Amino acid sequence: MSEIKVITIDGPSGAGKGAVTQTLAARTGFHVLDSGALYRLVGLAARQSGLDLLSEDAVASLARGLDIAFEPAKAGPEPLTIWLSGREVTHQIRTDEAGVDASTVAALPKVRDALGDLQLSFRKPPGLIADGRDMGTVVFKDAQVKIFLTASASVRADRRYNQLKTKGMDVSLADLLDSISARDARDSNRSTSPLVPAEDATIIDSSDLSLAQVHARVWSVIENSDLIGANVNADEVETTDGP
Ligand code: C5P
Repeated sequence: MSEIKVITIDGPSGAGKGAVTQTLAARTGFHVLDSGALYRLVGLAARQSGLDLLSEDAVASLARGLDIAFEPAKAGPEPLTIWLSGREVTHQIRTDEAGVDASTVAALPKVRDALGDLQLSFRKPPGLIADGRDMGTVVFKDAQVKIFLTASASVRADRRYNQLKTKGMDVSLADLLDSISARDARDSNRSTSPLVPAEDATIIDSSDLSLAQVHARVWSVIENSDLIGANVNADEVETTDGP
């Protein structure tokens, strides 16, 4: 078992995982794994190769050979700049369509297996914050802190609507709610690594909480865990309001 500490943040899309992951990363200095981005990249790569997204062996083989790079972004709303096969795809993988493609390929067990080692390779000193659906249940079962962050589907659709509008994207709230509900159903009902809280996860419902409040709750879980004392900076960091 690895000595390197891990905090897992699982939950459905739009629950505020990405935002809280960033505030925790700023406070702890830990690395970040955005596992959803990996599935989004596989979906995009499969589209670009003209593959049927359901042809499991072909998509898994593509996932094993992904040529990707992540770099902290210098500016803008996205924390990471992301490349696929030498081309920048930071914004392309964040569309709702890319999310649907991600959840389609993510339901294929061989694709999940193919991304296993890549995900484990993000576990480096001083520690890792892993954001996804199965971080605490499958990939990092031995994580010291497990959070399951959720929110009602309508609150998540509202947040996503505002986020996409800010980015200048033309979206319909009703379509987003449908798409979020369909994605929740696909992620929760699949047989491999379904979206469920780990037995030892702390469940936080962010529907009525600001980002600062979510961060404070997560931090109190961290303070009561084995993680404190593991070179974690306990000073406050600033968080913008709203998850
Ligand atoms: O988190 P994000 O919305 O970017 O994830 C996109 C999709 O990738 C999810 O809807 C889910 O189907 C899939 N995913 C997954 N397991 C993870 C992370 C994401 O199945 N650990």
